[in-house]
Amino acid sequence: VVVVHNGIVENYLELREWLVSEGHTFSTETDTEAIANLVAWSLRRGRSLHEAVQDTLERLEGSYGMVVMAASEPHRIIVARQDSPLVIGVGPHGRYAASDMPALLPLTRDFVVLENGEHAVLEPQAHRIYDRAGRVIPRESVRCDWTPEQAEKQGFPHFMLKEIHEQPDVLARTAFERCLDLEGDVSFEEGFGLSDAALRGIGRLRFMAMGTSLHAAMIGQQLAGALARLPGETLNASEFLYSAELEEGDALTVVVSQSGETADSLRALREVKRRGGRVLGICNVRGSTLAREADHLIFTHCGPEIGVASTKAFFGQVVALYLLAIRLGRARGVLDAAEGRARLADLRGLRHRMEALFEPPALAAVRSAAEFLAGVRSCLFLGRALQHPVALEGALKLKEISYIHAEGYPAGEMKHGPIALIDPDFPVVALVTPGRTYEKMLSNLQEVRARGGRVIAVAASGDAKAAASADFLLPVPAVPELLAPLVTVVPLQFLAYYTALLLGRDIDQPRNLAKSVTVE
Ligand code: F6R
Repeated sequence: VVVVHNGIVENYLELREWLVSEGHTFSTETDTEAIANLVAWSLRRGRSLHEAVQDTLERLEGSYGMVVMAASEPHRIIVARQDSPLVIGVGPHGRYAASDMPALLPLTRDFVVLENGEHAVLEPQAHRIYDRAGRVIPRESVRCDWTPEQAEKQGFPHFMLKEIHEQPDVLARTAFERCLDLEGDVSFEEGFGLSDAALRGIGRLRFMAMGTSLHAAMIGQQLAGALARLPGETLNASEFLYSAELEEGDALTVVVSQSGETADSLRALREVKRRGGRVLGICNVRGSTLAREADHLIFTHCGPEIGVASTKAFFGQVVALYLLAIRLGRARGVLDAAEGRARLADLRGLRHRMEALFEPPALAAVRSAAEFLAGVRSCLFLGRALQHPVALEGALKLKEISYIHAEGYPAGEMKHGPIALIDPDFPVVALVTPGRTYEKMLSNLQEVRARGGRVIAVAASGDAKAAASADFLLPVPAVPELLAPLVTVVPLQFLAYYTALLLGRDIDQPRNLAKSVTVE
């Protein structure tokens, strides 16, 4: 019996004890081994593989996306799903199973998504889906509009590098068709489903997500405040479950998730709905659980993101959140048509302005900063306002692929503790872009330098003051303040990439990390 299992069997100790009493022996400490033994137990009692898996599912408590095979029925695979994602690929030469669609794109673009509590029998030319009670469920396959080429490296040495380079296209795909340039407004597809009246009725926003998507959500909250005057909060989705159960009232919760399968974000979504609230999902994967369970939807059109470290998905999320903030501002009468037009023109103009980020001078600057950074053990990323989440994101990128310890902080916090760490071996990466926070950031740099700290500054190209306060300057084009995160994040992604490259790390698959975190 072969079992592939993603999830956690919560009652595995109990099951294991019983199976041992039935004469089974275990060779690992994993919960998954209990599943394999349960299937074997039923097979030995004359049950078919399908029946044996059904017997097993009845005894399991917890979460699973699983695939089961047995030597006795080599032409058949049984798959089952409870709280962990599972898709079935339907191809001319076979049926396939995976946690998400990108894994199967080289084989097929037609998919059937399994719902919670369902299982399916796969044979080379057929599949049947069953509910818990064993009734057959008819389900059409859906066509994924991602192409297999999108899931290939196309000449880049790593997916991460390819995906960083795709960001200007992500901007065009996620935004441009939705821009109503003359009206100064934004039009989302049908799945958005929030009328002007509904948008006017929102009293506050709550953003929730995990990891990189949480950083995009933090930016989204600030954009909605600036462009739509809507109050909001941003919460780590896994923490929301423990928050006091207050009235949802006129709140709208925005759940941001690239994969749409992050267990913590989905738990939070379900909890909001249980409390009577409404959820808008911002998601990159059609057919994902978030896309199916959210009340309202905005898709980011990033294409498949394969590198474990998220880059273009963050970018697409911030673009979508910017569009959302404009739509909210227009519907609520905070932005007039002229202001809306100006904001959209800023966004359209960004594509051209971003080009400099990928040109040799910018990359040479990043590479020399990376050479320095590759030699340190620890560092600090600082930013204020919209650049605070970018600092958090820069630190996350660096730590996850280079394994160098990095912390992101709002720069104002520095004096309240982190400044004690500054010395020549503990550098600071600072976001010093034009706008309200510029002068304050410059004075933070002075404070770092006065204590012997080294500074890598991300600043507008040609900014002599920032250059004078930094050891390394990563130049970015000057753009309107609200869009600055979309340019400053790029050199930070490159910085993490080149540092990890110098250290010989496994960039696309860093240790201990998974692309979709489908267990809590
Ligand atoms: C970091 C990263 C993760 C994800 C997080 C949420 O580079 O990729 O932090 O952002 O696991 O994933 P999604 O957006 O799929 O919910």
